[in-house]
Amino acid sequence: MRANYKMLKVFAGLSNRPLAREICQFLDIPLGEVEIIEFKNENLFVKIAENVRECDVFVIQTSTSPVNTRLIEMLLMIDALKHASAARITAVLPYFPYVRSDKKDQPRISIAARLMADLLDAAGADRILTMNLHSFQIQGFFRMPADHLLATPVLIDYFRKTDLENTVVVAPDAGSAKRAEKYATLLDLPMAIVDKRRIGNQDHAVAKHIIGEVKGKRALIFDDEISTGGSLVNTADILAEQGVTDIRAGVIHPVLCGEAVERIQNSNISEVIVTNTIPVEGEKKIDKIKVLSVAKMFAKAINRIHNGESVSVLFSPFENF
Ligand code: R5P
Repeated sequence: MRANYKMLKVFAGLSNRPLAREICQFLDIPLGEVEIIEFKNENLFVKIAENVRECDVFVIQTSTSPVNTRLIEMLLMIDALKHASAARITAVLPYFPYVRSDKKDQPRISIAARLMADLLDAAGADRILTMNLHSFQIQGFFRMPADHLLATPVLIDYFRKTDLENTVVVAPDAGSAKRAEKYATLLDLPMAIVDKRRIGNQDHAVAKHIIGEVKGKRALIFDDEISTGGSLVNTADILAEQGVTDIRAGVIHPVLCGEAVERIQNSNISEVIVTNTIPVEGEKKIDKIKVLSVAKMFAKAINRIHNGESVSVLFSPFENF
C-alpha cells in the first residue's frame, strides 16, 4: 500500500449496487456506508456514514435511469467525500453519463460528455476509472488522470468458447467498423459492415445495405451499447433478409431503454451477450439476454490504482482497441 493513503475504501450510489458489492467481494473489503435520501422537493441528501479521513476512496456510479438524478447523486457523494477529508477520490463510472454526446456535429449543441468530465472535476474527483467509452477521444475531455478499461476481453473469452464455425463478425454501422475489425481479428473471423443511417436527432436508425459476404453464414454483431435496440434489431433484420442463418450479438453496455427488451425478445437474434456495467433487472431479465460480469476487472484496476501499479496490463493485448 502507498504510504500516503491510510486505507482503500469503496462507496457506491444507488445505480448499480450489485456490481459494487461484487467488486468489494473481489477486493475483500466491505462496501462503504452511505445514506442517500431524496426529499419531496427532489433535492438529494447524501451523507458518508463512516470515517474517510486520509483514505483512498473509490465511488462507483453508473449511468442508468433516472440518469440525471444518479449523476447529481454521484457529484454530491464526491463533494461530501472531499469535505470529509478523503485523501484521494476516484470516480468509477462503468457506463459514462452522456457518453454519446461527444462532439459538436450540429450547430448550437452542448458537448455534454465533456461537460460531465468538468462536473466530476469541479465536484472534487482526482481520477476517473471508466469502461468502453463511445469514442477514445473522450479521454481527452478529462483534465485529471483517467483509466479507460475495456470489457472486450470478457466478450471475446465468452465467444471463443462457443461454436464459431461459418461465422462472420458484423459491425452495425460504419462508426463501429474499427471495433468490429478488432473482434474479427481476435476471433479469427471475416467481417461485414452494415450501412446504417440515423434520422435526425431521433433514437431511430435504419439499416440500409451490407458491405461484405454474409449469405448462408452465421453472424456475430458487436456494438458498444444497446439503447432502444433499434440498431441491433434493424441489423439483424437486414442480415436475415440477406440469408444469414443464426444471429448472435455481443454488446458492452445494456442501456435497454424504451422497447429494447421487447424488440430483442421478438427479434430473430438468438442470444445477446452483455456485461453488468448497467444492471439488467426485473423485466429486462429474459432468456435471450445473458450477462457477463466485469466486477473482477474493476476490482483488479482499483487494486492496481491503489497500489500505484500499471493498469494497462489489464487490457493487453487490447491496447488501442
Ligand atoms: C451508436 O453509435 C452506438 O454505437 C449504438 O449503435 C447505439 O447507441 C445503439 O442505440 P439504439 O439501441 O437506440 O439503436
